[in-house]
Amino acid sequence: MVHDKRPGSPLNILVVASEVVGFAKTGGLADVAGSLPTALARRGHRCAVILPLHHSARKASVTPTEHTFTVPIGDRRVAGRLWRSSLPGDVPVYLIEQDDYFDRDDPTVARGIYQFMASDGTRKDYLDNCERFVFFNRAVLEVMPYLDSWPDVLHTNDWQTGLLPVYLREQYDVRSDGSAPYDRVRTLMTIHNMAFQGAFWHLDMPLAGLDWKLFVPEKVEFHNHLNFLKAGIVYADRVNTVSPTYAQEIQTPYYGCGLQGVLYANRQRLSGIVNGVDYTAWDPRVDTHIAAKYGPDDLAGKRECKRALQAELGLAEDPAAPLFGIVARLTDQKGVDLIGAVAPGLLERGVQIAILGEGDRKYHQLFTVLAQRHPGRLGLKLGFIEPLAHRIEAGADIFLMPSAYEPSGLNQLYSLRYGTPPVVRATGGLADTVVDATPASMADGTATGFRFAAYSAAALWQTALRAEAMYRDDPTAWQQLMRNGMTRDWSWDRSAAEYEALYRALGT
Ligand code: ADP
Ligand code: GLC
Repeated sequence: MVHDKRPGSPLNILVVASEVVGFAKTGGLADVAGSLPTALARRGHRCAVILPLHHSARKASVTPTEHTFTVPIGDRRVAGRLWRSSLPGDVPVYLIEQDDYFDRDDPTVARGIYQFMASDGTRKDYLDNCERFVFFNRAVLEVMPYLDSWPDVLHTNDWQTGLLPVYLREQYDVRSDGSAPYDRVRTLMTIHNMAFQGAFWHLDMPLAGLDWKLFVPEKVEFHNHLNFLKAGIVYADRVNTVSPTYAQEIQTPYYGCGLQGVLYANRQRLSGIVNGVDYTAWDPRVDTHIAAKYGPDDLAGKRECKRALQAELGLAEDPAAPLFGIVARLTDQKGVDLIGAVAPGLLERGVQIAILGEGDRKYHQLFTVLAQRHPGRLGLKLGFIEPLAHRIEAGADIFLMPSAYEPSGLNQLYSLRYGTPPVVRATGGLADTVVDATPASMADGTATGFRFAAYSAAALWQTALRAEAMYRDDPTAWQQLMRNGMTRDWSWDRSAAEYEALYRALGT
């Protein structure tokens, strides 16, 4: 068992996630699942990652294995096949093929991992998401005997993997034998976002193959629904979230999304670890997507990146105009309504804004109208364009991230490294990673950005003006602020060391 291992001995870890960068991505979870395993491998552990073979993953270098399997779905058995690939550091990537679930004919949403495009033009969750992820969770347990090594730790992530610890303890422990010692496996559930819980109606219990005796408040039931995330929280050996502040926040009603009581009750098993950055992909010294490379000792390339971004987005090529950048899922979480409220005023002050995002239709409409009203000042791309995300981080002067809540956040960490000081609301991972520029923090060199507390347009407005004023009026202070952020270490090595300690604490 994990806790029998000598300190320092290598662990076998299987990271289970619904998206992994390079194979499928809708947000930061994919970045985490694609970077943490390599960082753990660098620390000497055997780490692998497993995800569904989504449509987008077929564009990566993936190969089928000879291993097929079936899992029960209600009273049917559904077949799947194991595929494989790898990540840097010789990290095995396993993929679960089942095309009816993960590669369905859906030309309207190229990356339809969780959602499809309805006829009214809005995105809707697939109606069979419960079934799709029941299959994935069970499939992971079925294929474990075929993997290169038997995991000591199943590291599950978000609701899509929440039933894994349930199946493990309720159905697989009893199947344990020398070649498949399920009872030795320990589980960690990482919560990346409380707003998505995978709550399905009670009649999905038989489909999931779960006994009705588990449909109680102490187990998988929550307000008469089968709740995957809650099930994971209750059944996993330990629970963490992606920043210490968010771990505290989610024990309160505003952030807990209904599960605050469950989290508070489990607070002894709950902790927070801030995500890291993959600096092989996100560093302006090596980034292959940007117009010119630069670093803290040579900022010249950043001016070229700004000029190139202005050209790419149809903005006036004005080197002096403060350029605010936004890369986000355009949803309520990201404080997009606050951005919409302050944007006209900022634009009237001669500021430029570059926005890359996709999400709720109301926000698409909002920014489309603003872009039409402010040609040459507001550059907008609606869509999911990874290279442009890099170019906005590099080309903007100031990054805007006024989130209503932010479990960890990666974009503010990217913006720090790219010398694009972030303006953030002090919540979750934003509070844990951005130091407000005050006279004291400027003097001692710790300042990295600008923070505000209240979720209000007035607070964002004041803070954006503070950033704009320093940028325009005090170039020396501004360069100092840029360099402070650029030289901060938010690499995965730090987070991986914390995950290692948490894995070792499992089961003790
Ligand atoms: P979240 O996971 O809540 O969306 P994070 O800040 O943790 O927020 O991570 C977002 C990730 O997704 C970053 O890598 C960011 O660059 C990327 N991203 C978000 N929206 C887009 C988009 N429209 N196009 C390209 N990349 C995007
Ligand atoms: C979620 C959160 C984000 C976090 C990401 C990866 O999508 O919204 O804050 O960085 O997961 O952990």
